[in-house]
Amino acid sequence: MSPLETLTAALRDAVTTRFGDDVTLDYGKLVQRNRGGQHGDLQVNAAFPLAKQVRRNPTEIAEELAAAIDASPVLEPGEVSGKAFVNFRIRDAWLAGEIARLASSADAMLSPAAKAEHVYVDFSSPNVAKEMHVGHLRSTIIGDSLSRLFEARGHTVERISHVGDWGTQFGMLIQYLQEEVEEDTVAGLSIADLDSLYKASKKRFDDDAAFADRARQAVVALQSGEPGARSTWEALCAASRSEFSDIYERLDVEVQEVGESFYQPLLADVVRDLEELGMLEVSDGARVVFVEGFETREGTPLPLIIQKADGGYNYATTDLAAIRHRVSQGADRMLYVVDHGQSQHFQMVYAVARRAGWLPDDVVCEHVPFGLVLGEDGKRLRTRSGENVRLRELLDEAEERGRRLALARAAETESDRPESEVAETGALLGLSAVKYSELSHHRMTNYVFSFDKMVSLEGNTAPYLLYAYARIRGIRDAAHARLEEGSLQGVRTDAETLEGPERSLAQILVDFEDVVDRATVQLQPSDVTEYLFQLSQEFNRFYESSRVVSDEDGVDVTRLRLCEVTAATLGAGLSVLGVRVVDRV
Ligand code: ARG
Repeated sequence: MSPLETLTAALRDAVTTRFGDDVTLDYGKLVQRNRGGQHGDLQVNAAFPLAKQVRRNPTEIAEELAAAIDASPVLEPGEVSGKAFVNFRIRDAWLAGEIARLASSADAMLSPAAKAEHVYVDFSSPNVAKEMHVGHLRSTIIGDSLSRLFEARGHTVERISHVGDWGTQFGMLIQYLQEEVEEDTVAGLSIADLDSLYKASKKRFDDDAAFADRARQAVVALQSGEPGARSTWEALCAASRSEFSDIYERLDVEVQEVGESFYQPLLADVVRDLEELGMLEVSDGARVVFVEGFETREGTPLPLIIQKADGGYNYATTDLAAIRHRVSQGADRMLYVVDHGQSQHFQMVYAVARRAGWLPDDVVCEHVPFGLVLGEDGKRLRTRSGENVRLRELLDEAEERGRRLALARAAETESDRPESEVAETGALLGLSAVKYSELSHHRMTNYVFSFDKMVSLEGNTAPYLLYAYARIRGIRDAAHARLEEGSLQGVRTDAETLEGPERSLAQILVDFEDVVDRATVQLQPSDVTEYLFQLSQEFNRFYESSRVVSDEDGVDVTRLRLCEVTAATLGAGLSVLGVRVVDRV
């Protein structure tokens, strides 16, 4: 536990012991860091709100809190300052000991959570026969990082892509393929073919009523397992799958495809069970559930459609079946990383699942929404002709930009590395820049997609952090080499006291596990990016003023250890973000 968490817990204890359970305080906000401040390292600001509630003098209360809060062995006893603040200093011995512990093994950095959970992360989830577009970028990258964050704390994570691979649109695709395309071509379809195919069949569907009828019959044929329809559908899925997996490989994302079709055999039961529970009503011929609390602006209740008038099942039906399935597999927590436009859908689905008794109280279902990706003009990112930007093309461009940048830089510095190697690192850097930029924004904000910004060496970007990481490892390795040469003696092997910038750096380092923890609670990878950026800056301040190796004094082993823990922390942080590190930037 970090000093901040330790103090927060101790404050809570002290308050309940002295003032009883009736006082309500927002503990998370009442303890603050005071980095570099003269008034200790941490500050408790609870006396004012407490004084209001119990109608007493704040200064007196601060005195009482200072006496009652026991956060040893992490913190020195508190001291009252100003009117009613209580300040705490981290004990030097604790801090030095904690750094030594973090340096001792790679496992020390992140310990397993007290209770390991079975977590489903439903993310990426593109649609068959359509290309992934920039909208899927956010879900894919945020979902992957959340999975990594939970895995890092020892939870079991199921990474599920709820692919849209079923539904009425397949009728028109199958019918069009069967009428217009040679059978052997069908087997070798590429995703680009599919995209134009989709458009062509949609047009035919809208223009030609007889075709539309045949397309509807094709859906029935598919759903009843007719072999011809089935194999055409499989060809469509296979073509899409190879496109998706290519993108996942480039992005270094692992996800398991469990598409909508998987839940088909379970849908009839969903309808039957809702019927038996008396939850189904008929509205405009469709079978629906009205969910309490969901209404239009005019106050009319909103229906969740379970079965359409023509007998077809709906998006919601599949999601209900998926919840039942996941719960039956022992899910403790289900996260749905899907754009905020679908928020109402998920809230209604969760409410129905709870009311039906399929979602036990202690199982969490949470929609993890995110905002839009904008173009430099501040509007939703589109191609010049106004279409959705294809993810493939966006990644191609990121790689190309990265390559160009790396080659230019290599030429500038007259690097002797082979050109192909530089280009490869550059391409990787370009992709990392896209991922990092995505994660560095609060997920609910709409952010402007700017290659120039994301590949910049300044600011909170992937190149900046990867560069910092490579540099710190370089410093560490050089110091180790000097130690091994034996020509330099280590000095200050086990400092009990860290001073100035050393101390500030150490204070950030001991917070890492809490930051990861917080990111899994807030479901916010940007907590981690922000932390890593601060850490790199703090390291720079430290390194500017503190010599790790000098010819007169030798290697300062205490400082070397701070370099080691910083490198390890940056490495672990980039890893939970899914950003691959490179040896040289
Ligand atoms: N395929 C959907 C889309 O592209 C997202 C599916 C999200 N997951 C879910 N369980 N509904 O919009």
